[in-house]
Amino acid sequence: MSSFQGRDILSIRDLSRADIELVLKAAKKMVPVAAGSRRSKSLEGKILATLFYEPSTRTRLSFESAMARLGGRVLGFSGTEGTSVQKGETLADTIRMVESYSDAIVLRHPQEGAARLAAEFTERPVINAGDGAGQHPTQTLLDLYTIWDEKGSIEGQNVTLVGDLRYGRTVHSLTYALAELGAHLTFVSPPTLEMPREILEHVKERGLAFRTAHRLEEVMRDSDVLYVTRIQKERFPDPQEYEEVAGSYRVDEAILRDAKRGLIIMHPLPRLSEIAPEVDRTKHAVYFKQASNALPVRMALLDLILGGGE
Ligand code: NCD
Repeated sequence: MSSFQGRDILSIRDLSRADIELVLKAAKKMVPVAAGSRRSKSLEGKILATLFYEPSTRTRLSFESAMARLGGRVLGFSGTEGTSVQKGETLADTIRMVESYSDAIVLRHPQEGAARLAAEFTERPVINAGDGAGQHPTQTLLDLYTIWDEKGSIEGQNVTLVGDLRYGRTVHSLTYALAELGAHLTFVSPPTLEMPREILEHVKERGLAFRTAHRLEEVMRDSDVLYVTRIQKERFPDPQEYEEVAGSYRVDEAILRDAKRGLIIMHPLPRLSEIAPEVDRTKHAVYFKQASNALPVRMALLDLILGGGE
């Protein structure tokens, strides 16, 4: 039996290095099934509930597609309109009920800690698909898969994270994982959007050196991976504060003149103006590939949790 069977995925910190490597290898084997060239019924009869209290395109659709490719089914909601949440139902009550309709629950919620709270009210595995500015562990698994697949290794890579490091949940989870896996980290953000102190402390405790910078130009030359993020407008308490930092960074062809030949540019998407469309045509751009990697990675994870995977 896999060590993943029935397990919650709430924070990337709950996964060891061995766990992460297991998922990445299982994901690689899922590629032909994800592409539709090999059939699988490994999750036949299983039902996944997807409860999205916040907008989502890739995360929800790739979970749904992953389940369908493995012969399972999905139910859930996308936005709370039309659900009892509008009548004031608590998260705890919704979870208690959805438990009897499904075998596992994927939850995206605006409040940090929501997935952990949900997990206390159900025996079913809960997968955190983003809790406010907290964590987004399954995004991190597909981000790690992308680095591993594109660069051949994760350890020793110079990874530069740029943009909204304060509110961006993808970079919070990714930083923990990259520290665990021995990548060299550089953080680039406006002064008001720096990586939270406790995460930087954690990186330090792992004995890893890291750099911080405010200007992208300073760090382009030695980056192997550039992970660009959107400024998370919806998390700003004050719209004026957002206006001050909106558009702080823009990766365009000019800035790429200093880039290493093998640099890969990643983004969890959606992107706004932080990556110029002209960059899409360059060999550096892997963000759409990254988004498509969501499928084999989420398939592997669901198979490990719900099926007999590995
Ligand atoms: C991210 C998110 O929701 O945190 N999107 C995603 O899941 N790929 C990033 C974002 O919204 O900026």
